[in-house]
Formats: sequence, structure tokens, C-alpha cells
Amino acid sequence: MALGSHFLDELRARITISEVIGRRVKVTRAGREYKACCPFHHEKTPSFTINDDKQFYHCFGCGAHGDVIKFLMEHDNLSFMDAVEMLAAEAGLQVPKQTPQERAQVKEEKDLHGLLEDVTCYFEACLLEPRHSDALNYLLDRGISRQTIKDFRIGFAPDDPQVLRKVMLEKGYSDKEMIKAAALRPGKGSGKDPYTFFRDRVMFPVPDRRGRIVAFGGRVLPEHLRPPQRSDFTPPKYMNSTETPLFHKGRMLYGEPTARRAAAEGRVLILVEGYMDVIACVQAGIGGALAPMGTAVTEEQIITMWKIIPDFNKVPILCFDGDNAGRKAAGRVCERILPLLEPGKSVRFAFMPDGEDPDSLIKSSGVQGFKDVIKCAVSLFDFLWNSYTQGKSYDTPDEKASIKKQLENEIARIAHRDVQEMYRGALRDRISTVFYPPRQKQKFSKGQSYVAADVSMLPKKPRCGHEDKGALRELFFGLINYPFIFESVEEVLSTVAFKAPRLEQLRQDVCSYLSGAPDAGHDDLVHYLEDLGYAQEISDICNESVYVHASFCSPSANEENILSKWLEYWNDYNAAGLEEEIHDGWKRAYLDSSQQEEEKLRSLLSARTGEEGT
Ligand code: UTP
Ligand code: MN
Repeated sequence: MALGSHFLDELRARITISEVIGRRVKVTRAGREYKACCPFHHEKTPSFTINDDKQFYHCFGCGAHGDVIKFLMEHDNLSFMDAVEMLAAEAGLQVPKQTPQERAQVKEEKDLHGLLEDVTCYFEACLLEPRHSDALNYLLDRGISRQTIKDFRIGFAPDDPQVLRKVMLEKGYSDKEMIKAAALRPGKGSGKDPYTFFRDRVMFPVPDRRGRIVAFGGRVLPEHLRPPQRSDFTPPKYMNSTETPLFHKGRMLYGEPTARRAAAEGRVLILVEGYMDVIACVQAGIGGALAPMGTAVTEEQIITMWKIIPDFNKVPILCFDGDNAGRKAAGRVCERILPLLEPGKSVRFAFMPDGEDPDSLIKSSGVQGFKDVIKCAVSLFDFLWNSYTQGKSYDTPDEKASIKKQLENEIARIAHRDVQEMYRGALRDRISTVFYPPRQKQKFSKGQSYVAADVSMLPKKPRCGHEDKGALRELFFGLINYPFIFESVEEVLSTVAFKAPRLEQLRQDVCSYLSGAPDAGHDDLVHYLEDLGYAQEISDICNESVYVHASFCSPSANEENILSKWLEYWNDYNAAGLEEEIHDGWKRAYLDSSQQEEEKLRSLLSARTGEEGT
């Protein structure tokens, strides 16, 4: 729709550009202008200026330049019309519409937005009333700060089915409007009053991409905080608004306004499962978190995420539970995404440790624990490969052919020709490295090709500056499932010290037990460790979700490969430059050890040198 320049001039004149920018970055006055650190490139001293008289911003560092509309488009990652409408609402201007129908629709939507805004304010106020202190304390006890409660506008719906209606009727809204906005449900039976179906619930308002409230999710209080007369029936944990002209749950993503800003700042988008996960992530500084509305993610939601990401490469991360159900759900989403793939558009899959969701993981392992899981996200291709090969044997030609065919069928569903071709190529490569690896003898005489080939098929390990517990977990897990490799890895393991005290203790105990019991099997080792009080650590380490990243350590892995895989992981772990002392000890230990092991080390080292040289 074409907007007249008159309207746009009027809009710019009514808005103070420094105020709009000042709500998003810290600005300071400098004479007649304002200064800020440029939000469009990284800098420590401000070279970004804002001039209210001339109604523009300009960055002397990167050349970013424009008016308030352009600023919102670039910074909040909005379309032109969205930016204009957002500013018009702020300026109290009506964006000109062409047809009477359009005008009528806009008016109706505006009225519904206003209504839901008032409902939100009412719920927010209820949460702060002393008689609802249970609800507030419940949120605070879950670690949600008062500031986060404000930011997400969390509220509380009282137990009375009529109170919201009364309040809103007094404000001049009609039953009809309230039903249309799904704030009320029509009365059951003729002559019965409409009533609210959000009762005695913590309320999460759902903002659309521009921050206007369009729906609600309501969570029950935990049982001990619910009135006793209701405790015989179990209400659903969450309830969401029904669909309205403003709310289509398959299109909406909870957390979108925050995530848009994060994406515009170059942060990764992370799709999590629920309201509380988004809130916990954002509170922990992970602004790119989003969630679908209590259903599996839809095509439209995937496409929305791609649209939000301003880069050419749009690869949001989708989080799933690490258990079987989570992997099945990921499989279904994968099915849905394949036909949509295009160059630059894909997704990655991250799997939570058993029994955790992002909210609980951040609580138990800190935000770093969650980031570690995110770093281990696998590509769509790796996910596909893993889903057809993990836990399956592929020793016979029939098994190999069957896996190949199934993967080809999946890849055939990719509609984009180039992308499909790339997947076919990747499948051919993967099949030849995994199904037809060079024979053992060759491996060690031509070490480089062996390691380079095999390492390339492994998902990337996180390379971060602190001790990587995820990688250690995989290494311990491999050892616990296959204690017979201890004989060969004893020397490496004996020359290191891990930083995490509990893991270090575990390392020492494992080493001292296995060196005295060379024939011990998996069960012996686990019993021994449990008796020493490591039950918790064992259940953390021996967690199915580890197989997703490191299939080599799964109980169904091919025993012949365990040792070489374990060493690759060890190598990778060291290559991350995490622990210099390990590195040195490792070299020393190996160079002193048996000839075969020495050859292996040389091949690993030369492979790495080759890697670094490229
Ligand atoms: P979960 O049951 O995993 O809850 O539902 P949660 O997000 O971990 O919530 P807390 O931590 O117990 O408070 C995940 C999402 O599924 C939808 C909601 O959107 C929820 O956030 N859901 C869940 C429903 O719509 N209805 C339900 O009864 C349960
Ligand atoms: Mn939860």
C-alpha cells in the first residue's frame, strides 16, 4: 500500500527520534544532538549521532544513516508497514487505509488490542494484590525476578469467574467484544452470563511481533496452593486462549518481540518448548528464545523464524527433550522442514539432558550448562543420518542398502534442487566413510586419511574456554560402557587432572579400580562407583541423550571402533585448547607407551597438523 509523503512527514514530525532510539540504546546528550554507541556495529566509543531537528541518525563509524522508520526496520527487524504502524500508534495517528472494509477491520482489531491490553493490566495488578501473594511467591520461588515479571507482564487471574467481566463492563467493553477477544466464554445455556475460563491461574500474556497482547496462557498454581475444594479434580497445567481474529496459535511464537531484537543484534534464535523456558532463557541473557503455543512447531513458525533472522544464513536451533519422545518429535519436525529447505535456510537440533527443560537446566547447571547443550546442536543432515543409523547395525550389505534407501527417500523430499543435490553428495560421502572405512592396517600406516576422514563425520564439539563437561561426560560414558579400553587409555587418563573437583575424584576412583580389576565389566564398574556414592554422577553421565552427540559410546556401538573413537574424542577435547597440562601429559604418556599406541598418537597428531595447515 502506498502511503502519502504528507502522512509520513506528519508521522516523523510527531515522533521524537531520540526518544525512540533512547528506548533501545543508551543515548547521551551532546550539545544539540545525542550520541550513542552504534547499535549497528561494535564500538566502545560513541560515533552514532541523533539529530531531532533534522529527524535522522548517522553513524560516523559504519555509515548507518536514516530516519526513525528506517531505524525501527533495521533495529527491530520490522517491515516498513509494521514500523509505520508502530510509530503511528505511538503518535496517535491513523495510518490511512484505502477501503472502508480495511478501515473497519483495522478499527475492530484496534479495539480488541485495547481490550486485551486492559485485561493484561488488570491481571498484572491482581498479581501484586496481597491476597494473591501465593501466586507472586510461586513465581519468585521459581526464580523469576520482579523485573522479569514486569518485562513479560506476568499476571494473575482470580478464582471468580465473573470478576474480570465486571471490571471490563465498567470500563465500557461489551460481552460481545470480550467473547470475540477470547477474554470471556459465552455462557453455558441461554440466558447464562459469559464467564472467564482463566481462573486461579498465573497469566502469561502473549504479545504479537509488535508487542501488542493478542492472547493468554494461564498456568495452574501447584496443588498445595490451590483451594482444597478443587483438589479432587486435576485441571490442565496450561490453558491457552482460543483462536480469535488476532490470535492464530499455529502462527504465533511466544517471545517474538524480544527474539526479533536479539536476532537483529546477530544473536541465534532458539526454539524452546514452553512459556517458562522462554522466560528463563531471556532472564539469563539468552534473548533469542521463542516457543510455539503448546503445539508442535508448524511450517509457518519455522518460516517466521527464518524471516526474523537478518543474515543470509538463517539457522535457528530447535530444542527437544533428550529422551525417545523428544527424538521422535524432532523427527516429525524434520519431516516438515525438508520440503522447505533453501540455500541459507536450515535448522539445527539440540537435545536436552534427560528430564530437563531449558528452564530447569538453567537452574541446575547455570546458563553455561544450557549454552553447552546448544553448542552441541547437530545439523539437519547429521540429525537425519543419526536417526537412521543410531543403535542400528549396518554390518551386512542388506542393512547398508536399507539405511541408504531410507535416507535417499528422506532427501528426495527436499524440494530445492541445489539443496537436494548437496544432501545427496553429503550422503554419498558419509556412506563411504562410515560403511566402507579404510581397513585397519591402512589406518595406521596412512594415519592422516584415517583420522581426517572419520573426524569429519563427527558432530562438532564445543570449543570453549572452560572445561567442557559435555565432552568429559562422553569420554567417561565410553569408558563406563566399555571398561576394556582402560588398558589402552590408562596412561592418558593417569596424567591429567580435571578442573571440576567431583569429576576429578571420579577419574581417580575409576583409574584406581580398573587398574586393580582389569577384567571388570560395565556392571562391575557401575556397582563399584554407586557404592562409592557416585549414583548421581552415573545417572548424569550415563544418559541416553549423550548418544545423540556421541554414538560411539552407546551400548549398541561397534566394539571394534570404541578405542579409536574414544581417542578421537579425547584428541578433539584436547584440540579445543582446554587444558594445556592435559595436552602435554598426553603427549608424554603416549610417546613413552607401546609401539602400536605410539603409532596411533602419531597418526592423530599428524592429522591434526594437517587440519591446522589447511
Ligand atoms: P510443559 O508441561 O513442559 O510445561 O509444557 P513447562 O513449560 O515445563 O512449564 P512448567 O515449567 O511446569 O511451568 C510445555 C508447554 O506446552 C504447553 C504450554 O505452552 C507449555 O508452556 N502446554 C502444556 C499446554 O498448552 N497445556 C498443558 O496442559 C501443558
Ligand atoms: Mn518446565
